[in-house]
Amino acid sequence: MDLGSVLAVRARCGGPPGHSVDVSASFLGRRGFTRFDVEDAVGAALAGRLGLAYHPRRAGARPPEGGLSWRVTIVEDRATVAVRVGARPLHRRQWKTVGVPGSLHPPLAAAMVVLAGVRAGERVLDPCCGAGTLAIEAAHTGAFATGMDVDPAALAASTHNGRGAPVRWARADAGALPVATAGVRRVLLNPPWGRLVERAGLLARSPGLLGQEVRRVLEPGGTAVLLVPESRPAPSEFSVERRIPVALAGSRLAVLVLR
Ligand SMILES: C[S@@+](CC[C@H](N)C(=O)[O-])C[C@H]1O[C@@H](n2cnc3c(N)ncnc32)[C@H](O)[C@@H]1O
Repeated sequence: MDLGSVLAVRARCGGPPGHSVDVSASFLGRRGFTRFDVEDAVGAALAGRLGLAYHPRRAGARPPEGGLSWRVTIVEDRATVAVRVGARPLHRRQWKTVGVPGSLHPPLAAAMVVLAGVRAGERVLDPCCGAGTLAIEAAHTGAFATGMDVDPAALAASTHNGRGAPVRWARADAGALPVATAGVRRVLLNPPWGRLVERAGLLARSPGLLGQEVRRVLEPGGTAVLLVPESRPAPSEFSVERRIPVALAGSRLAVLVLR
């Protein structure tokens, strides 16, 4: 690896100088080694070449702030080695300080925003917003986002997380949304499935209202992106454009892109 030019690009992008080395590795498939073996092998080599200390993650300790953080991903016989530009991991959003049960990891929410094709200026709705992750990630693209939830505690969390973000929050039941027919271009949805989060309000008695309401408020040609347990069918009101499997904290889920 040409470390000199990699670190020069990082510095040009505003990356601060690092005073140590840490590595986070992952791989697909069965291997005769662990992720920690990969981290130690790559970390020792990088630290040796850069003349810096290496901080292993094997014992579970979080590396000190201000280090050069490297990422190794092995797929089949190819390893990709990347270096973080910023001082902090981007997946740890500074705005997300409060969660609710079932709250989304922000990078998954950001991926759902991309899959929905959200663009600046579009109207976007999350009708079951919880701590607001999807609506806030959508607002960061320049969209006009609205987050609704029936639970006042969820709205308190989303309002707190969303301070400073241009998102409108409202208390509403997703079974009878206070939104005009064809009033939004994109719907982002991580609904309650009665596992980690119970359905409340109208959805407790009539879960099918959710699909009907999302269909009603969506503009013709608009997109809904929905996170569901892997085996769950899509709401019958929609056709599935893409079904993307997602493994999340031991659960098998799917992101559905619906039209
Ligand atoms: C899985 S959580 C959403 C988590 C959210 N995506 C986040 O990142 O924090 C589902 C949410 O649906 C809400 N909910 C349950 N029944 C509802 C209903 N009838 N109308 C609107 N929201 C409802 C719950 O209060 C909960 O906040």
